[in-house]
Amino acid sequence: MPRDVVPMLGDLLAVPLQALEQPIRVRMLDPFDTERLGQLMMLAFTGTVDDAGETPEEHRAEADKTVAGGYGPLVPSASLVAECDQDVVGAVVVTEWRRRPLLSFVLVLPQCRGRGVGTALISQSAARLRALGYTDWTLVTHGNPAVALYERLGFREDQGLRDD
Ligand SMILES: CC(C)(COP(=O)(O)OP(=O)(O)OC[C@H]1O[C@@H](n2cnc3c(N)ncnc32)[C@H](O)[C@@H]1OP(=O)(O)O)[C@@H](O)C(=O)NCCC(=O)NCCS
Repeated sequence: MPRDVVPMLGDLLAVPLQALEQPIRVRMLDPFDTERLGQLMMLAFTGTVDDAGETPEEHRAEADKTVAGGYGPLVPSASLVAECDQDVVGAVVVTEWRRRPLLSFVLVLPQCRGRGVGTALISQSAARLRALGYTDWTLVTHGNPAVALYERLGFREDQGLRDD
């Protein structure tokens, strides 16, 4: 794992369940969502620290790779999309990596941010992982402002994960 990447461990039992108000609803990610997931990645990552100038096709390929298990097998019941009037406005994708769930990414359309959609996606994903019997999960970040959100939801830097 590169030195500038920060591994974080999250306590699933410390994440409160957070609902969303209508008209936004949360449902499981569907394999047919990968095209829309690619579009969401394009719109959500543009201008962030994770923006490496990828083309729409590269985002689509990344979405396909993630859903197909390129970062460990997908945990389908904990991988969710938020929809508003049939439009996908957010997503959280969880894969299994080294025996633990990995929060691969969480994305919300720029115009829908700051209203709790990201928090609700993470908290509902956590509830589903608890139901599967998991007690903790991981993620990796590198200078993303989302760290404040992750810490609020029980994640802490854990360098010990490098040795797992
Ligand atoms: C991270 C993200 C999913 C949060 O979605 P959201 O719906 O705005 O989240 P919430 O409304 O539940 O919470 C907002 C919190 O996110 C945090 N945050 C995340 N990104 C932020 C940013 N770029 N600037 C400021 N705050 C940010 C803040 O702690 C904020 O809390 P505040 O409103 O009290 O300041 C969204 O900002 C996003 O899609 N970012 C781009 C993609 C990304 O970087 N994803 C994370 C790495 S995979």
